[in-house]
Amino acid sequence: MRVLAVGVAVLDVINEVDGYPQEDAEIRALAQDRRTGGNALNMLSVLRQFGHECHWAGTLATDDAAQFIERFMIGQGIEFQYARRLQGKVTPVSYITLNRRNGSRTIIHYRDLPELMATDFNAVETQNFDWVHFEGRNPDELVCMMDRVRQAVPHIKISLEVEKVRPGIEAAMAQADVIFFSRPYCLKAGYEQAGEFLEDQARLYGIAQELICTWGGQGAYVYQKGVGVTFVSGETIEVVDTLAAGDTFIAGYLHAASLPMAVPARLNFANRLAGLKCTQRGLAGLAQRMVLE
Ligand code: FRU
Repeated sequence: MRVLAVGVAVLDVINEVDGYPQEDAEIRALAQDRRTGGNALNMLSVLRQFGHECHWAGTLATDDAAQFIERFMIGQGIEFQYARRLQGKVTPVSYITLNRRNGSRTIIHYRDLPELMATDFNAVETQNFDWVHFEGRNPDELVCMMDRVRQAVPHIKISLEVEKVRPGIEAAMAQADVIFFSRPYCLKAGYEQAGEFLEDQARLYGIAQELICTWGGQGAYVYQKGVGVTFVSGETIEVVDTLAAGDTFIAGYLHAASLPMAVPARLNFANRLAGLKCTQRGLAGLAQRMVLE
C-alpha cells in the first residue's frame, strides 16, 4: 500500500528512571536515548517494517536535530519529498521520562516550529497514494488538505487521529473514513463508556465507516456503520515502554486494512502489535516479532 502521513517530526530525548520523581527532586537517569518521534512518523516507521511505501509530510527545521530526523527517515526508507524546510527554526523536542517500574511515559513537549499549511500540501501528488493519514493537528488547515485529497482521488482512504481536544477538529472528523480516538479524548468529552462515545460521534460527524477508540492495555472499541460497537480485548503483557504504543496501534490497523481482514480482526492485530511494542524499547523489529511470536 502507498501511504502518506501528515504530522510533526520530533526529537525524543528519553530518560529512563527508577520510579517517577517528586517535584523539585534531583535524580539520576538510568539510561538516556535520543530517537526520532512524532505520531505520524512513528506510525510510518512501523508500517515500513511491513513493506509499505511510506511518505511523510510535515515541516522540518534546519538544525542538527532536523538532520538527525532526516537521516532516520532515509535509513528507514521513508520518503519526505513533500516536507517543507523552514530556515533558522528549531526542531520540536519531547523530553520524556520513562518509568522503568511501570513503563509509563511522561512527555514534556516543546515546539515553536510552524505546522504544514494547506498551501504546502498542494505540492502533494495525491493520486499516487492509496491511504492518507492525518495526525489531527491544525484543524482549519487540515480540513482544506482533506478536501483536496477527497476531490482529487474520491476513493482514497483518509484516516484521522484525534488524540487531543483541538478547536475545530470536528470539521476534520466529518471528512475521514477511519477515525482513531484516544481514551483521554473520550474521557475529556465527558464519556466513561467508549461504546456510547463512538455511537454519538458517528451520529454527529458523518461519513466515517470505522470509528475506533483505544483503551490502553485493555483493548480497543470500534463502531462500524451498520454493525454498531465491538470491543476487542488486548492481551496481558509485561510492560516495559509505552511510548508510541498508540502510534503502533494505528500502524497495525492500517496494515491489517491492506489485507483481506474483517474489522474486528484488524483491531486484534493492532492490539497485538501495540502490546508487543510495550514489551520493548523503541519500535525496531516489531513486524518481525509479530510474525515470530
Ligand atoms: C509518541 C510521540 C512522541 C512525541 C510525542 C509528540 O506518541 O509521538 O514520539 O514526542 O508523542 O506528542
